[in-house]
Amino acid sequence: MPPDLPKLTPLADEDSLFDELRPAPRLLMGPGPINADPRVLRALATQLLGQFDPQFRRYMKETMALYRRVFETRNRWTLLVDGTARAAIECAMVSAIEPGDRVLVLSFGRFGQLMSEIARRAGADVRVAEAEWGTVFAAEQVEAALKHHSPKLVAVCQGDTSTTMAQPLEEIGPLCRQYGAMLQVDATATLGGMPLRVDAWQIDCATGGLQKCLAGPSGSAPLTISDQMADVVYRRRHIEEGLQPAGYLPGEGPIIASNYLDLAMLIDYWSDVGLNHHTEATSMLYAARECGRLFVEEGHERAFLRHSLAGDALVAGIDAMGLRVFGDRAHKMPNVTGVYVPDGVAADRVRSALLDEFNIEIGTSFGPLHGRIWRIGTMGVNAREDAIAQTLGALEAVLAGDGCRVPRGAAVDAARAVYRSAER
Ligand SMILES: Cc1ncc(COP(=O)(O)O)c(C=O)c1O
Repeated sequence: MPPDLPKLTPLADEDSLFDELRPAPRLLMGPGPINADPRVLRALATQLLGQFDPQFRRYMKETMALYRRVFETRNRWTLLVDGTARAAIECAMVSAIEPGDRVLVLSFGRFGQLMSEIARRAGADVRVAEAEWGTVFAAEQVEAALKHHSPKLVAVCQGDTSTTMAQPLEEIGPLCRQYGAMLQVDATATLGGMPLRVDAWQIDCATGGLQKCLAGPSGSAPLTISDQMADVVYRRRHIEEGLQPAGYLPGEGPIIASNYLDLAMLIDYWSDVGLNHHTEATSMLYAARECGRLFVEEGHERAFLRHSLAGDALVAGIDAMGLRVFGDRAHKMPNVTGVYVPDGVAADRVRSALLDEFNIEIGTSFGPLHGRIWRIGTMGVNAREDAIAQTLGALEAVLAGDGCRVPRGAAVDAARAVYRSAER
């Protein structure tokens, strides 16, 4: 039986249709999106240009240059994919993988599952190595899986927001090279918050999003690929019918199954060829450029330190409250923390109280962790002491109001102490 279409409740009334937008002053402390930096909001409001205006082409090249710095790479093909972070993941996969190619996904959470799902839809012969949620892979496990499966491409998250774990990558790139595989990394949740040395770690493709550590909205996905991967993709270049130049010869191999996410055509679009592929999401390019500028201006090390300090302060507060942090702490992402919901506490009721009474959003969780942990983000513009203190104070008040025995004031004190000791 095919499923019934889902229910869609209409608005109870349409009285507000012509009201101006007046979003509540939320503090977004979930696993992303988070609040945008005001500079990014201003960039979004900048007047549009045509995409072949020389000034706009310069903005495109500047954006490429900025993201080469963000990704710590010299990769020529460092560009933006229009769409949310998964658009870049899918763009790389659908363009590099030919039906039947073997892909090994190192999965340690929901976003590893997403990479498997995308690779499967691209027609890959997908092999999945799984690490228990709350843990990551040791290099020996990766090597054993590479030996066993001989993949063309290995796909892994740097930080899987669903479990809050961060996979060390330094050794995986060289291992992939040794076994003749390309390495694709989903850095959506970590880009700008912890080191990602694309060239030094021999990563062939890394993708990100703006809505986490880079303090922007979702809707533009930075992507960088090595020349080796660019060759694999560009070999398959098939220009769409209405744009083919005189004397055009199609590339080899099966045509890339998506037009919108065809990385070979996107390379032409961003290159001096200037293929008129899609209408650039101009405002999102402005936003991405501003996110890149903010990060590069702050400096990699300062931004990473700010995120790790924020994560440490939040964890200190959670510990001081007597709550438990989820997963292997040695491999925790600095910018997202999983907190076990105490026994007898209704996870969603606490989240609603934080939102309704304090304008603070924290995250729920997926799959086996649903209802068991909250996920609290400390990233981008919100990786700062006052945001963390507000969140801890509000959480404490809501839990105490629910009859939970939490030591009053201890969490904020502990978080402050982390910041004070860092100043010394
Ligand atoms: C690690 C990771 N990968 C991929 C995604 C998908 O990103 P998007 O929702 O922007 O498509 C997310 C979103 O939260 C994420 O956290």
